[in-house]
Amino acid sequence: MADYRELNRANWDERAPAHAASPGYGVQRFLDDPDHLSGVVRFDLPRLGDIRGQRGIHLQCHIGTDTLSLARLGATMTGLDFSAPALAEAAELARRTGTVLRLHQADVYDAVEVAGAGAFDLVYTGIGALCWLPDIRRWAEVVAGLLRPGGRLFLREGHPMLWALAEPSGDGRVVVGFPYFERPEPLVWDDATTYVETDVVLRSTVTHEWNHGLGEIVTALLSVGFELTALEEHDSAPWDALPGMMVRDEHGEFRLRDSPERLACTYTLQAVLRGS
Ligand SMILES: C[S@@+](CC[C@H](N)C(=O)[O-])C[C@H]1O[C@@H](n2cnc3c(N)ncnc32)[C@H](O)[C@@H]1O
Repeated sequence: MADYRELNRANWDERAPAHAASPGYGVQRFLDDPDHLSGVVRFDLPRLGDIRGQRGIHLQCHIGTDTLSLARLGATMTGLDFSAPALAEAAELARRTGTVLRLHQADVYDAVEVAGAGAFDLVYTGIGALCWLPDIRRWAEVVAGLLRPGGRLFLREGHPMLWALAEPSGDGRVVVGFPYFERPEPLVWDDATTYVETDVVLRSTVTHEWNHGLGEIVTALLSVGFELTALEEHDSAPWDALPGMMVRDEHGEFRLRDSPERLACTYTLQAVLRGS
């Protein structure tokens, strides 16, 4: 079996330019309007608070649209991702908008060595980030290692219940088809498509992913010294997670068309590293 990082990186390397050119990521809007923020960060605004002057790191920053948005809110932002093409798009976005972003190409698990121990006030991540990591406890150690005592983790992520659902079968039912809990063995996917509107057909189609239960995520964070300060589940996600079953609202959030109260699609978790 090939190393999961090589498989996943090859896949993300191909997705990055397609995403940067897609209407969904809306790169042009950042160039046209110096106050424009990504939909993901706009959703986060009421919970983020004032981040002016904070040293932030965006783990798995992809093409940098959320990273740039956080910089526009006044944080000094670093982005980290293992995909060179993704970071090239982020660097180009920073250059064209006249924004200073520090960018590191690295695996998340190497983030402390690469970006600095205790160097940040804020770790921001999510929306399709944790599912690429096999071990949630190791991730929690990395997040703790990056923050100064009293620093904050801000995580909005796809809900493990959503990740556990089978592809919609067309009868309106949601069916649990995949593990909810973390398993050592990956979920292996083979898919030439991606989640944005694009004609691009991927050549590196095989990916390895993992789910992590909400309790496992919280437990991992508590065990490395975090105090949980907020945990909110949302009935919506910023992408069409169950095609054919969801409707998009005016903010770009998707939720089940029928009885959306059936399903938590995402959650926002905030935690502070003890010891300030
Ligand atoms: C769905 S994106 C999440 C980013 C963000 N929510 C967005 O949509 O802009 C996932 C990102 O994780 C990165 N990634 C996946 N596995 C990684 C790893 N082990 N280390 C660093 N980056 C990784 C990919 O390159 C990709 O850019």
